[in-house]
Amino acid sequence: MCSVSVTPTCVPLPLPDQQLKDLVRKTRDWAILHGASMRSRRNFSEDSIQFAPFNLFPSTFLKKDFQKVVDVQATFQELIHKVAHDGEFLRKCLKDTIQVDEFTGNLFKIYETVQKEGIVQPLNLGLFRCDYMLESGNAKNQSSHENYPCCCWKQVEYNTIASGFGWLGPISAAIQRYALQELGDLKRLENLPENNALDGLCEGMLEAWKAYGNPEAIILFIIENISYNIADQRFHEFRLRELRPDIKVVRKTLTEISDRGRISSTKTFTIDEDEVAVVYFRAGYEPNHYPSKAEWDARLLIERSKAIKCPTIQYHLAGTKKVQQELSKPGAVEYFLKDTNKVNAVRELFVGLYGLDFDESGDQAIEMALRNPERYVLKPQREGGGNNIYGTDIKDAILNMKDKMERTAWILMERIFPPITRGYLIRPGGSNLPPISEMVSEMGIFGVIFGDSENILVNRQVGHMLRTKTSTANEGGVAAGDGALDSPYLLDC
Ligand SMILES: Nc1ncnc2c1ncn2[C@@H]1O[C@H](COP(=O)(O)OP(=O)(O)OP(=O)(O)O)[C@@H](O)[C@H]1O
Ligand SMILES: [Mg+2]
Repeated sequence: MCSVSVTPTCVPLPLPDQQLKDLVRKTRDWAILHGASMRSRRNFSEDSIQFAPFNLFPSTFLKKDFQKVVDVQATFQELIHKVAHDGEFLRKCLKDTIQVDEFTGNLFKIYETVQKEGIVQPLNLGLFRCDYMLESGNAKNQSSHENYPCCCWKQVEYNTIASGFGWLGPISAAIQRYALQELGDLKRLENLPENNALDGLCEGMLEAWKAYGNPEAIILFIIENISYNIADQRFHEFRLRELRPDIKVVRKTLTEISDRGRISSTKTFTIDEDEVAVVYFRAGYEPNHYPSKAEWDARLLIERSKAIKCPTIQYHLAGTKKVQQELSKPGAVEYFLKDTNKVNAVRELFVGLYGLDFDESGDQAIEMALRNPERYVLKPQREGGGNNIYGTDIKDAILNMKDKMERTAWILMERIFPPITRGYLIRPGGSNLPPISEMVSEMGIFGVIFGDSENILVNRQVGHMLRTKTSTANEGGVAAGDGALDSPYLLDC
């Protein structure tokens, strides 16, 4: 029977009040003092940080389930890499979207410009993250653990630009290790899998830096004007400097690049006299990162140069929601991945994804959404959280756009309903005696890919992250939504 849809907790709950109070105080201080933190949006100051919300104890998963998404990461990356290098496919997927979505249209113009001029740097660096939720109540995938609900993974999306939590992923497990250790049960610590995401991502950047071939050249981070998620960027920089103290790392906004970035006649990219080997974008994925034409010019300047981009414009486009939806159509994955095992491993992760084009299937999708809006999520071509539409709001949005070209810039996705986990959510300003919350989790798997249109030189999974939100919240972003840091606790089965 597969009726259970609540996952077991890793420690018996509730904790006695005094024990919980002491543990919350200690763990919160541990988090602040070890950099599990963000800048406050409400009381912003460059001088201070506050701890990021976190789940006091890790959430349980079956070891075999966890391994499944770890194992599929390289295959998924191969698929995205191939999609990114198929201009015809990208053009076909995005042809309507770029007419109505100015942001994606501008990205596409950069892509076409550099394709026409000729690519001077054929190498692409991808630091990707694929996000998944367990879908509960799927009887096809029988759980072999008596207390664990029958579930299977479904992909929420994949990220090809500014994939965050390379630091916050590993540190989440460290907070929870500390919490479990304070309870005195050291045996439990063995169930938290190793997570070397930060090292893996930094090593990816260093491999690209080596391939560039100039020991004097620097690594450039493209950043927003204000970085709230500062720990998750600075720790990358600090780790790079630890691993290679000889390599300079600088952070600049697109506005600064437009003022002071240059490319030479041989397409060498310099900022303030430093030659740039690798450009790592932690901004550039949403319209407000481009307040004027100058920032778009800066993105084009970088793309034209021989610096190695993470991501290239084609990787960025391959990560759009529209491309994700087109990939779910029959034959699309099969076209890129010839191996049937790989095709099946990817396909079983998809839920229904529908375009809203002006054709029969687009009209059908509109009807489905109007009939059962609670079964779907409506997504625009955006990143960074907070942009999707849920539940009854879908109805209003669809009625408003159904006769307008605008609808082609959105996709409709079946909503995933994960099993409920129970635990204590610790938030800044929250109580030292939090109630037990009902929550759901989203797993992100990190990977590095590096290669050109002909060869993939590096393709590996490098770590993971887990975000957990209250079960009634729509979005689980930690910086932008209702999410909290978490990590998996693996049960044998
Ligand atoms: N199909 C779905 N079913 C359930 N929840 C979903 C679904 N799609 C998205 N969500 C929720 O909305 C959040 C944001 O969606 P999504 O990841 O597609 O947007 P994004 O703007 O690209 O976010 P990110 O900043 O994480 O890249 C997810 O983290 C998840 O909590
Ligand atoms: Mg995303």
